[in-house]
Amino acid sequence: MQLALCTWQEVQDYLHRQTGLIIPIGSVEQHGPNGLIGTDHLTAECVARGVGERLGCLVAPTLAYGMSQHHLGFTGSATLKPSTLMLVVRDVVQSLSVHGFRRFFFINGHGGNIASVTAAFDELYAMRSLGEAAEPVRCRLAFWAGRRTRALTNDLYGESEGGHATCSEVSLAQYYQPQAIKQAQLSPHLAPASSGFFDAADYRTRYPDGRIGSAPSLSSPEDGKRLFETAVEDMAEAYQAFLQD
Ligand code: NI
Repeated sequence: MQLALCTWQEVQDYLHRQTGLIIPIGSVEQHGPNGLIGTDHLTAECVARGVGERLGCLVAPTLAYGMSQHHLGFTGSATLKPSTLMLVVRDVVQSLSVHGFRRFFFINGHGGNIASVTAAFDELYAMRSLGEAAEPVRCRLAFWAGRRTRALTNDLYGESEGGHATCSEVSLAQYYQPQAIKQAQLSPHLAPASSGFFDAADYRTRYPDGRIGSAPSLSSPEDGKRLFETAVEDMAEAYQAFLQD
């Protein structure tokens, strides 16, 4: 079920039955020569909607933009500053808590979001502890690839998975948006290994085509289907455990 496709009365009825909500969050950033700019929010959304269908729980509109300052050396990338992302997460959670939502499960597609999103959670808890917020909320952030999905990724790609524009995320995006599959010559086959990064210019110098340590010419929509099914299983289990915590 998608929040965006419900009426307010339907949401009210849902809240009589359960108070959990799934929010996909990603980024708008380059993913190398054959990866889509939307990879991180498309993958998170695809898995979140799969969980929503499986469990009959609500999925909020995707928070597409994330903290991607290090990708701004590549055309088409956009970022929220960490402080902006914190405010976006805080305001979305607080707004929906007014109506009775209490458990917010963020399915994440982008590692760069982790610090800011978890800081936003701490901000929300601090507001409650200090008597500044009326509603007690609980939030969790989970990367779309859980334990089983990481094992499958390892079987499929091993060391070629890499750290950015990974084989698995490119495959999952190809499965979700097959009309947008890109053919590109990737040279070198395996991108430079991770050596960290600072700002956008530094990132571009270290990783000239945008990839880190990956060989996503190995990606395929067929792999993406397997990754999708496994990730939905992982995230459905994690969401249910979170509701009971
Ligand atoms: Ni990504």
